[in-house]
Amino acid sequence: MSEDGLTTIGQEFKGERGDLIPILQRAQDLYGYLRPDAIRMISRWLKISENEIFGVATFFAQFRFHPPGQHHIKICLGTACHVKGGEQILTIATHRLGVGAGETTADGKYDLDRVACLGCCALAPVVAFDDKIYSQMSVLKIQRILDGQKID
Ligand code: FES
Repeated sequence: MSEDGLTTIGQEFKGERGDLIPILQRAQDLYGYLRPDAIRMISRWLKISENEIFGVATFFAQFRFHPPGQHHIKICLGTACHVKGGEQILTIATHRLGVGAGETTADGKYDLDRVACLGCCALAPVVAFDDKIYSQMSVLKIQRILDGQKID
């Protein structure tokens, strides 16, 4: 781990307990996830046990504890998408990838996440695959995406 990046982040804060969440956010931005060695350093800076930091971080869905996958799949389960079958799409993706929401496949290829709204409810159900939004998603369409097929 490059301690320089974390040291630079540390210089932006006073080192108080209240700095924990923004420091964790900055550490995650730096490495893509909360590395154990980063948590250890933050623990020493803020004089907060690693267990407590882990406990706080797991409360927030935004924090990751594993390296991000190559591709990011976000299944929307906001009200509009839920009503139009978002749960079934998540179930298919979960079975196909062998991981649950918030996890990364063993080969590091895909992250699977559920989100509350992707901001385009009129197109529900919606799935984001990396930076592309797929509208009016269906069970068939998500399978085709996971098979690497192009869909409109
Ligand atoms: S609820 Fe799915 S895009 Fe808004």
